[in-house]
Formats: sequence, structure tokens, C-alpha cells
Amino acid sequence: MGHQHDTEMHHVGDDLPSMRSIAEQSVEELGGRGSVLAIMRREHGELEELLERMTHTSGDEQDELLTRLWRLVFPHAYAEETVIWPAIRAVSGEGDELTLHIEEGHQKLSELTAELDRTRPGDPGRDAIVAEVVAELRLDVREEEDVLLPRLQAGTTPKQLRRLGRMWQVVRRTAPTRPHAVVSRRPPGNVIAAVPLSLLDRSRDALDRVARRNDGRARARAEKASRALAKAAGAIERLPPVRRGERGRTRPGRWTVHRWLTREFAAKQQSTGRRK
Ligand SMILES: [Fe+2]
Ligand SMILES: [Fe+2]
Repeated sequence: MGHQHDTEMHHVGDDLPSMRSIAEQSVEELGGRGSVLAIMRREHGELEELLERMTHTSGDEQDELLTRLWRLVFPHAYAEETVIWPAIRAVSGEGDELTLHIEEGHQKLSELTAELDRTRPGDPGRDAIVAEVVAELRLDVREEEDVLLPRLQAGTTPKQLRRLGRMWQVVRRTAPTRPHAVVSRRPPGNVIAAVPLSLLDRSRDALDRVARRNDGRARARAEKASRALAKAAGAIERLPPVRRGERGRTRPGRWTVHRWLTREFAAKQQSTGRRK
């Protein structure tokens, strides 16, 4: 009864019927190059390449790779949470529980990287955090490709997947590039926070790059400016509206992507409901 073997690894989806992983499918089967499934798999591939390189570097070089990693990971996770997870929740009965599980993983990642942000290359303990980040990201990719995304595929047409792909690209380009652990992981809070946080994040990315390429006063100046922006981002994160949406249901009418998803999948949801 229950989970008697606490030491045994329990993976999400273990007790669900297994579906064909999107890792094993051709681009055609995924709905073409523009399909959100194909885009996600490409980005997961880029991610794995970065992780592989990161485990073989240290110091400023690893720090540079970390900034690139965040620029890939956080907009990616943000687009998942605002575009893809709501769609999965609309088409799959298991969607709510599964996306919540993935959101928890994303949250853990935000917290780990914020922790990493407080250390400097060479600090004791830093390598252990980096290793944890790498492991968490690899797990995230497996759960998405093997468990979550096949359920999106089962409930959508290739045409819908390509439309989600276009929406993905738009959201991704304007998404924050750094972890914001306090902001809601669900709409509308994360949508409201996106624009100001994204601007601050991208400015910090640039300043940190300046800092790494300089010494002495120029480096100190850039680091100081970056810290000031971090503080500003912290203030935005604590505004009540950006926490909205956490745990609760999404609020229709607040957000165009959400409205589109509701329209796009409402009919389908009703018809599957009736067939049962
Ligand atoms: Fe993810
Ligand atoms: Fe992902």
C-alpha cells in the first residue's frame, strides 16, 4: 500500500500509460519544423549541448556559459508555462497534475540559480549547485519529452501545434532571461511581470558581460549597476499582481494567449467530455 519503498525513484507518469516520446519521432510526425513540439525538441538539444560544455569548464568561462544557459532556459520555461502548459491542461485530464509537477521543477531551478547568483566562480559549494542545476534540467527535458508533450500531441492537430509554435516564438522573444522565484508560475501574474522583468534581465545580461570582459574600475562599475537592476527586479517581483494566478485557475479575459487557448480548445474539451 502506498509508497513503501521510499528510496526507490518515483518518476512522474510512472503510473500513467506510456506514450511514444517526442524524442523518438521524425520532424514530420511532430507536425513539421514550425510545430511547437519540433521547436521544443530543438531547444532541448541546444540546452544539452550547453550542459555538456558547462561540465567541462570553470571560472569566468563557465560563468559566461551560465549566462547563455539562463538566456536559453528561462525564456524557454516561461514560454512553456504561459503557452504550452495551459494548452495541455485544456486537452488532457492529467494535464493539471503533470504541469504542476513540471512547474515545481522549474521553481526548484529558479531557486537554485538564484542561489548560484549569490556565489562567485571559485566559491566553495558552487560546483555542487551547478551539478544540481544540470541534473534538474536533464530531468525536466526527459519528463517533458516522454510524459507531458505526447499528451499535448494526442489532443491537438498538427495545424494547432504549428499555431502554438508561432505563439511560442513571440512569447519567448519577450520573456525574462533570469530566475524570478517569487513571481507566479501561472497566468496572469507571470504575464504581467514579463515586460519589466525581461527588460531588466536583458540589461543585466549585458552589464555582466561587460564586467567579465573588464578589470578594475570598469568591472566594479558594471557589477554595481547590475546589482542595482537586480534590486529593481526584486521590487517588481514583490508586487502583489505578479503573484496572481499561483495555484488558482487562470483568469479568462485577462490575456490574449489565454483567450486564444480557451477558444481553440474549448470545443474540443467539451466534445471529449461528452464522449465519455
Ligand atoms: Fe521545462
Ligand atoms: Fe522544456
